[in-house]
Amino acid sequence: MENKQKTIAVLTSGGDAPGMNAAIRAVVRTALHRGMRVLGVRRGYNGLINGDMVELNYLSVSDIMHRGGTILYTARCAEFREDAGVEKAKETCIKMGIDGVVVIGGDGSYRGARDLSLKGIPCVGLPGTIDNDISSTEYTIGYDTAMNTVCDMVDRLRDTSQSHDRCSVVEVMGRKAGYIALNTGIACGASVILMPEVPYDLEKDVLDKIRNAHKTGKQHFIVMVAEGVGGVEELAKKIEAATGIETRACVLGHVQRGGAPSLTDRVAATKMGYHAVELLEQGIGNRVVGLQCNEVVDYDILEGLEMVKTIDTNLVRIAEEVSL
Ligand code: F6P
Repeated sequence: MENKQKTIAVLTSGGDAPGMNAAIRAVVRTALHRGMRVLGVRRGYNGLINGDMVELNYLSVSDIMHRGGTILYTARCAEFREDAGVEKAKETCIKMGIDGVVVIGGDGSYRGARDLSLKGIPCVGLPGTIDNDISSTEYTIGYDTAMNTVCDMVDRLRDTSQSHDRCSVVEVMGRKAGYIALNTGIACGASVILMPEVPYDLEKDVLDKIRNAHKTGKQHFIVMVAEGVGGVEELAKKIEAATGIETRACVLGHVQRGGAPSLTDRVAATKMGYHAVELLEQGIGNRVVGLQCNEVVDYDILEGLEMVKTIDTNLVRIAEEVSL
């Protein structure tokens, strides 16, 4: 019997992250190298529902490794959260002869990959989010770049904060997780780091700390706050009122998601993209790929979604002790 050429599709879904393009490139190049056809699906699951896709070749992914964003565009697709949407996507896959799909995104995108896998279309998830909040992997594509961007921004803030003897309350991304806040807080020498995982007492953990450090002669302060904690404007007002130190809030926002991916993100994306194709080549779907101790691993999607990842309490302690 003649061997049918395999066709795989690749899409990016959810919030974009630097390094997604490197992952797309790895998927496309690996698949072509192994004799498969590759379709690039536009705007996440929307493209899978509407058949908005284009065949990709070696050159389609040239010169994208160093670019932020995603050449395939991305979206959060409400229709795909309903069974009817998943059913439509399945029909498109059958019509287009798609034998497997690589989904690059976060937890929400993984749930979609699970639903489509359950309908018989093998899907493999790759962790793409700056938040690093996917439990089945120690590392997510985009995390390193985003943290370097935060460091760069906060270094600039520190200059003006220092010149004015001010306190800067900085909100960094991480709706549910404090990984960015904790690591960048340490790297930027924050006096206080607030994360959703660690409850805090305003008087003791924020105001007293700043007051005490002020008494020792420290004149400017960085307070790093994860988005999931929120309320930076109010916090800035409270700090100013309680300590007498002029305080400004700064929400770094979406700049954290842009820019050229770091070396770490390019390599992580390439390793994981390569592995995703190896799985689909063998007809293995319903898996999520990740990195553990820098080695590529994969798990059943359901198992992956049920895993729990916790903040590094040792790092929290270190941050606490080294800040003034
Ligand atoms: O999940 C990545 C992330 O950047 C979160 O940190 C943030 O809360 C969210 O996406 C913002 O989403 P949007 O781009 O839809 O505003």
